[in-house]
Amino acid sequence: MIHVKRYSSCEVELNGRKLTVEGPVTPEALAALRFDEGLKAFRIPELQHQALVEIAALPEGRIIIARDGELVLAYVTFLFPDPLERWSQAKLDNLLELGAIEVSPQVRGGGISKAMLRLAFSDDAMEDYIVLTTEYYWHWDFAGTGLDIWGYRKVMEKVMGSVGMVWMATDDPEICSHPANCLMVRVGKRVPPEDVETFDRIRFQNRFFY
Ligand SMILES: CC(C)(COP(=O)(O)OP(=O)(O)OC[C@H]1O[C@@H](n2cnc3c(N)ncnc32)[C@H](O)[C@@H]1OP(=O)(O)O)[C@@H](O)C(=O)NCCC(=O)NCCS
Repeated sequence: MIHVKRYSSCEVELNGRKLTVEGPVTPEALAALRFDEGLKAFRIPELQHQALVEIAALPEGRIIIARDGELVLAYVTFLFPDPLERWSQAKLDNLLELGAIEVSPQVRGGGISKAMLRLAFSDDAMEDYIVLTTEYYWHWDFAGTGLDIWGYRKVMEKVMGSVGMVWMATDDPEICSHPANCLMVRVGKRVPPEDVETFDRIRFQNRFFY
């Protein structure tokens, strides 16, 4: 499969600031930008910046960002599922994982995450993919948002639901380990039915229990 990446951008106004939402960005363009200190939900900003540059260089990797001039204030990542997770067992080259979405605390609650996803899925190439995201409550920033577990889950449903990602059942033990965790999926319009079937088989691996 050829992973087509069509760059696009738009401007979003937030509290008097004009942010550029753009992507998929090239590794070179991303490396030349600065990374906001507030982007530390998953690892220290320098390391996360480096990790994103590496993802942008992958054939299937897609990074969408929101920036104020040279300063990156938010990002979302898409890449093949981690080889250690069950989703990679499907061996589908049209299965992408929305791995992380993060918005700097200084611009949260202003629609930036939804704007990045809107731009990401405005590329018609996304209709060739199944995109999944796994939500685990232990990744959520309760202190930084002031949300409780179910409030956070609601925000994640709104963010992901804004581009047609829907909750799907699975027997994945980590997801099943807490009711706030969930799997959300968007199946592109051109995904062949047999690939959807393969994905369904990966969602349920202990059918004899049902
Ligand atoms: C979760 C996160 C990405 C949301 O980004 P954001 O840009 O603030 O979200 P948006 O402004 O696009 O808001 C999406 C919806 O959630 C609501 N929302 C966002 N933050 C909220 C809050 N603290 N309290 C109540 N509602 C909130 C918005 O009002 C909006 O609702 P609407 O669709 O009805 O208009 C951001 O808080 C973040 O980066 N958190 C840390 C990293 C993380 O947890 N990532 C997710 C796991 S990978």
